[in-house]
Amino acid sequence: MFGKDTLSNKSILVTGGSSGLGFSMAKRFAELGAKVAICGRNPEKLEKAASELSETKANILTHQVDVRDYEAVGIMIERLVEEFGELNGLVNNAAGNFLCATEDLSPNGFKSVVDIVLHGTFNCTHHFGKYLIDSGNTGNILNIITTYAESGCAFVMPSACAKAGVLAMSKSLAFEWATYGIRVNAIAPGPFPTKGAWTRLVPDPEFEKKFMRRIPAGRFGEHIELANLAVFLMSDLSPYVTGECVTIDGGERLQAGQFNYIAELAPRQEVREFLKKMRPAKE
Ligand code: HXC
Repeated sequence: MFGKDTLSNKSILVTGGSSGLGFSMAKRFAELGAKVAICGRNPEKLEKAASELSETKANILTHQVDVRDYEAVGIMIERLVEEFGELNGLVNNAAGNFLCATEDLSPNGFKSVVDIVLHGTFNCTHHFGKYLIDSGNTGNILNIITTYAESGCAFVMPSACAKAGVLAMSKSLAFEWATYGIRVNAIAPGPFPTKGAWTRLVPDPEFEKKFMRRIPAGRFGEHIELANLAVFLMSDLSPYVTGECVTIDGGERLQAGQFNYIAELAPRQEVREFLKKMRPAKE
């Protein structure tokens, strides 16, 4: 699908890049020639990820930071620009989330998720955007949101609010910063198993079975599928795409269709036969 040099003119920061989907994207970018920086809160996790990423022979940097800290994010962007020579890509992937009935949520619980997801994305985007604008360079921002940014979602209300905000930020800045040659897009992943998300959001095998039943494609997503989509959006293969949110979810978001429940009633062959029998006779 891509050449080994698809991203050879790119230097990209992936926030929360030491694990989960962030790591998978960082690895794919590195395999395709990009200089890649990953940031996160945990230095051991960063070092372990960096040593795996180094196997690609790419230029890899790590930076310990909490994306909630505006000043510290500014220092990070400055350092990466200095070490790479330039920075032309940012993937806002760092997130925080947990399952909680909203009536049991503390104000600080709400705040911590919104701080990481919405303020964290703003902090990185604001510093990166200002650097690009001031230096006259063009660049590319990709925000990882979720399918429920549009629909809302029970039991993860702070995350739904924050991701909806990030979607609004993407579309607002895609317009506002197009004049500077800055593209801003989003990806809305459905269920892609990762340790971080799964331990918090799918804590039981029964949850997982029920979750799987919601997906028309009949399986969870594979990281490489999402990583390749991210490559496309971060590369020069999509220069006219901006302000877009691409969903990648095996059709899970389409649950709302009124008669979709029929698919759940019986194996497909039985459903087809039943529907044929129900067909009204021609008048
Ligand atoms: C209720 C909880 C809670 C829980 C934390 N809190 N976990 N409340 N139920 N399960 C509350 C705490 O009690 C505290 O409030 C407040 O949240 C902050 O918690 P801390 O642990 O002090 O905060 P912090 O160390 O900053 O950690 C932030 C975090 C944590 C969001 C709570 O889970 C985290 O660091 N997550 C990062 C990784 C992550 O979440 N990955 C999954 C992303 S998946 P009080 O009032 O007690 O002080 C994702 C994809 C969505 O977003 C799509 C999936 C399909």
